[in-house]
Amino acid sequence: MPEAEPSLQDAHVELKDISKSFGGTRALEGVSLTVGRGSIHALVGENGAGKSTLGKIIAGAHAPDSGQLLLDGEPVRFHSPRDAIARGVILIAQELAIVPALTVAQNVFLGVEPRQAGFQQRRELRRRYRALAASVGFELDGDANAGSLRTADQQKVEIMRALSRNAQLIVMDEPTAALSRPDVEALHAVIRQLASSGTTVVLVSHFLGEVLELADEVTILRDGRLVRTVPAAGQTEESLMAAMLGRPLDATFPAKHPVGADTPVVLSVRDLVAPGVAGVSFELRAGEILGLAGLVGAGRSEVARAIYRANRVAAGTVSVISEGRELTVTGTPRTALRSGLAMIPESRKEQGLLLDRPVTENVTLSSLARVCRAGMVRRGAERRTVRQTLTRVDVR
Ligand SMILES: Nc1ncnc2c1ncn2[C@@H]1O[C@H](COP(=O)(O)OP(=O)(O)OP(=O)(O)O)[C@@H](O)[C@H]1O
Ligand SMILES: [Mg+2]
Repeated sequence: MPEAEPSLQDAHVELKDISKSFGGTRALEGVSLTVGRGSIHALVGENGAGKSTLGKIIAGAHAPDSGQLLLDGEPVRFHSPRDAIARGVILIAQELAIVPALTVAQNVFLGVEPRQAGFQQRRELRRRYRALAASVGFELDGDANAGSLRTADQQKVEIMRALSRNAQLIVMDEPTAALSRPDVEALHAVIRQLASSGTTVVLVSHFLGEVLELADEVTILRDGRLVRTVPAAGQTEESLMAAMLGRPLDATFPAKHPVGADTPVVLSVRDLVAPGVAGVSFELRAGEILGLAGLVGAGRSEVARAIYRANRVAAGTVSVISEGRELTVTGTPRTALRSGLAMIPESRKEQGLLLDRPVTENVTLSSLARVCRAGMVRRGAERRTVRQTLTRVDVR
């Protein structure tokens, strides 16, 4: 009897009743799903829904507390990413793992370097790198120092690394979050090409448009639970969003109330010149939300960092106007903070949080002056500040 044609229905990886907690946090609870071989399977959900945890379990970076993982119908227990790689399962994590002191090509072939020594190896490495980069359409110098690359290019290094290891299943966690439009297009083409050549892709993405465009199936997670798995065809951004949030969209984005011309200006930025910023001016009125749009490298974060004085300002002024009093922001983030500015940086994990310190300390970090006396942190004041803050922003 001839063998059955492999079809999308062939399960590549199956999760059965997977649960995972971190301390008191239930990251995943009773999640079961099947990812078809050669399919693009998207995971969507709000921040903290459990997407990365699920991706890490599939790729051996976390072990589930309970439940079962099946690869090609066979139960597997990965004790490390290495175990998973040996079975062709590779994770491109949300937090990129680049070795800064090595070149791009060395990073791509890390652990699977050509066997020759010295000059021969370097030449072989270059040759392989060029072939790989050309096949995916990335223009990235293999000899460049990986540590000096911008995030978008580091992302490309990670993708090429996965490809160089003959991955059969690649989990991509927010691969396009930091990419410019042309790079996004290139990556989408790569993902499609991977899938059509039989590689399975588990794609974690916040971009629902991207999900609808690329994915065959979508799994929606909410608070660690699987809401449903559906074919992407027939879904819309609205239907996915509503499932992610568990409530209709209009409840999430309340109606906009444009501010009138008589509303006082609270922030005035004039002719700001700073690294990546060449003479930016705007005014912001109370209650207004201003979006800074542009491609990667256009200077969006740089404008924000300059306003907050996280970057050195060469010229121009930033003023905060409160109750008719104009305060010019100068100096350091400390002065910016005192003038009533706060900043949530681009990379929460690297720039915004002390990950190994408790929530309390993180929340009060920017108001240390208020909770300290004689150089000691007053724990009572610290806890009060956290309570007040959490009540104000309605976070549990
Ligand atoms: N290593 C860890 N230690 C402690 N808690 C963790 C850890 N990893 C994840 N969590 C917690 O588990 C929950 C799920 O996190 P996860 O990173 O999987 O969410 P996510 O859907 O990927 O979110 P995001 O969209 O922000 O990337 C969150 O509450 C998170 O704080
Ligand atoms: Mg995540």
